[in-house]
Amino acid sequence: MSGLPTHGVRDLIVVGAGGAGLYTALCAARDGARVTLISSRPLAEANSYWAQGGLAAAVADEDSPAAHLADTVAAGRDAVKLSAARVLTEGAPEIVADLTRLGVTFDADREGRLALGLEGGHRIRRVVHAGGAATGRRIVRQLSALAAEHPLIDVLEGTPVTAILTHDGRASGVELRGGERRLGTATVLATGGAAALWARTTNPRPAVGNGMLLAFRAGAALADIELMQFHPTAVVGTNGTSQADGFLVTEAIRGEGAILCNRAGERFVDELAPRDEVARAIHDELLRSRATSVALDMRGVDPGLFPNVVSHLRSVGIDPERELIPVAPAAHYMMGGIATDLTAASSVAGLYAVGECACTGLHGANRLASNSLTECFVFGRQAAHAALAEPALAAAAAAASVSTSTGPPPPLTQASREALWRDAGLQRTGEGLARLREDAHPLVRLIATAAITRTESRGAHKRDDFPERDPAWDHEHVVLTPGSAPAREHWA
Ligand code: SIN
Repeated sequence: MSGLPTHGVRDLIVVGAGGAGLYTALCAARDGARVTLISSRPLAEANSYWAQGGLAAAVADEDSPAAHLADTVAAGRDAVKLSAARVLTEGAPEIVADLTRLGVTFDADREGRLALGLEGGHRIRRVVHAGGAATGRRIVRQLSALAAEHPLIDVLEGTPVTAILTHDGRASGVELRGGERRLGTATVLATGGAAALWARTTNPRPAVGNGMLLAFRAGAALADIELMQFHPTAVVGTNGTSQADGFLVTEAIRGEGAILCNRAGERFVDELAPRDEVARAIHDELLRSRATSVALDMRGVDPGLFPNVVSHLRSVGIDPERELIPVAPAAHYMMGGIATDLTAASSVAGLYAVGECACTGLHGANRLASNSLTECFVFGRQAAHAALAEPALAAAAAAASVSTSTGPPPPLTQASREALWRDAGLQRTGEGLARLREDAHPLVRLIATAAITRTESRGAHKRDDFPERDPAWDHEHVVLTPGSAPAREHWA
């Protein structure tokens, strides 16, 4: 579509080509919009490509969206925005059906029904996978192929976005590296999370929250960015296996019976408790024993169910059929992000956010396993529908749009990553967070500000100086708006 004008009625800009961006683009194009899909990396290399988890969806006969909602709420520690979680759980089954129509083949059991996995915090098997732990890869490959050949989708690969453009108080498009501009009636950020800001992480290196900073600079509010979820079972690389460090061993393996043991070979936690509980139990066990890892024992699990995990572990010198896997928590998923409503709209008109870069509030203070891929699609569809109803750009917008760039952010240093792990890891103190507020990286400083504001412990956020959950903070969210003091907002 390079011959088409770069702006006009119902032109949509989508930034990010993971599951959320691809699906948003496809939904919008299906409704007749012209979409520019911009990815800083080649298609099919986005964060969701690496997602081992599946999609949580109430598709079993004995399941229901209400039961899925109840588990989401219980895991979220009295911080889940109910209306958002309802949109997710009610929309999830149709998403599985739509992805199937789009050519994604979900794993089936011997009778040909969807094979459903069990993960922490779910009281019932409800996680659909495609290719076992290769779900993200399969979905992203299929949607990338559809987007690449769609006549209404113009794909720009390897093209970083440097700023959001605004006109008359509305987002009017983006500026690309090199200065080129792309205008649209709506701009959707689907730029992924920020867990790679932390030194120990399961995420690929580019997941450092750049989209959150772009939105903040354009005036959008961020919410709950102090809430980083630590995945309990990331490999701890030793001398011989250091290239495995941070490799995620999917929770679905615990769902099939793998257990966690301490040095003495004793179990110390319910392996299928919600993720914050398991991660914290491991953290406490490591402090107590002064060990650097606990052991994940999957010797009793059928390796054929997780072929790519098993082959990756073997490739780095760990044979999970015979050996224990050394694991410890690592930064994995940001519950917070660009504050969005039920249509995925941010606080800036015309600017939307979907997936991990967004904060709908649906995850509360502790995301339920495999709700995040589902969120990418459910809210991607919401964003596409709402964005298509945005008013056309004013004729003057092409010439008069203003870049919100304040120059490139300082590069993320290893020192910042280590500071974040030390001072905003599984155990935090006011003193450490105050130190972090002086960090060179702007998003690290904002995370520290949000974490200082939440004067309690809840879900993934544990402060030694405020060790208890404070009921006065139930359903309260920390909102950071450019130019304003941090605020508390009650979300229902
Ligand atoms: C996992 O498979 O353990 C991770 C999936 C998720 O983060 O939901």
